[in-house]
Amino acid sequence: MEHLSPNNDLANDHEHNEDHSGMSRRKMIASTVTGLAGAFVLGNSNLFAQTNNPSTKRSTNSFNLAGKAAMVTGAARGIGRAIALALAEAGADIMAVDICAPVSSGVIYPSATKDDLDETGRQVKAIGRRFIGVVADIRDSAAMKDAAGRMERELGKVDILVADAGIQVYASVAEMTDQQWKDVIDVNLTGTANTVRAVVPHMIPRKYGRIILVASGQGRHGMADGSAYSASKWGMIGLMKSAALELGKYEITVNTLEPGLVDTHMTRNPGRWKEALKEAGKEPKDNPTEEEVIAARLPTAVMKIPWMQPADVAPVAVFLASDAAYRITGATYDATAGDSAKYTA
Ligand SMILES: NC(=O)c1ccc[n+]([C@@H]2O[C@H](COP(=O)([O-])OP(=O)(O)OC[C@H]3O[C@@H](n4cnc5c(N)ncnc54)[C@H](O)[C@@H]3O)[C@@H](O)[C@H]2O)c1
Repeated sequence: MEHLSPNNDLANDHEHNEDHSGMSRRKMIASTVTGLAGAFVLGNSNLFAQTNNPSTKRSTNSFNLAGKAAMVTGAARGIGRAIALALAEAGADIMAVDICAPVSSGVIYPSATKDDLDETGRQVKAIGRRFIGVVADIRDSAAMKDAAGRMERELGKVDILVADAGIQVYASVAEMTDQQWKDVIDVNLTGTANTVRAVVPHMIPRKYGRIILVASGQGRHGMADGSAYSASKWGMIGLMKSAALELGKYEITVNTLEPGLVDTHMTRNPGRWKEALKEAGKEPKDNPTEEEVIAARLPTAVMKIPWMQPADVAPVAVFLASDAAYRITGATYDATAGDSAKYTA
């Protein structure tokens, strides 16, 4: 494939200068804007070595993940399962990690089960990919390190991480219990950090990695009765940006995916629907009907749908996991059916 990287064009000039033309060629290059940049590269051999790194992956415009191995947390159901299936369809083998049990007394919607995780496995295998299901709590750092080690032993490597596992608890700042705050932060923020810290040691030696953290639109704006959740998701964006700064030199990219409202257990429950009525300025009811919630949301819905389906957001993860996205890191990706048009930045 033709090499179009400006860095490597400069690198080629450097070789030419050093081997054949000497100072006169350097002066000619330095007379152009490009040459000035080249002169900077010439002055720093370490920088030159990095920009000319032969392990650098090049953009292929391919989203093919054949031969890749991906860990997806929270993959028993919902968005995590949809992402696991999308990665598998693109060619990746999958390790799916899920607690498959109640996570916090503050969570008011039903928990995922081992049957759910097995169903994800059945669907991944039906696509023709290898699958390992792991029952683990992302709050358990040792368990996450074990999972990453097992993935390397059984799938050969850890190419991709999609850290999707998370919970939502509704409580006002005034009335929230210590446990509610702690559980949301422990799972969404600390658990995600545990997951990242477990996989990174397997990526650095190979100088390859794609890390995608599933944050939320609520990590890009506030939500009444959702302070712990919003804080955890904003925190994940900070985690992502810091990790991106540290890991770029190892060709590991780190980005976040921010879904808008998606039709999963986390959304389809009386607690979330009551909050949806409040968001729309309607009288909150304890058990609103689906029709009432849809009617409340539609007038301000940009694409005139009340919520998305999990498969609607999964392609963003496939893209960010692909070689085509090899120069995308430290970025947030909103998949919101238009809610993000209302964010101010
Ligand atoms: N549904 C939405 O509208 C929406 C919007 C934006 C962001 N998100 C985020 O997307 C992710 C997936 O949400 P979902 O809607 O699919 O919810 P979900 O409840 O259907 O799925 C979440 C999965 O994560 C697992 N999980 C939770 N805590 C865990 C832990 N400590 N260890 C291991 N596994 C754990 C659950 O068992 C479950 O299978 C979450 O991080 C959520 O915050 C969801």
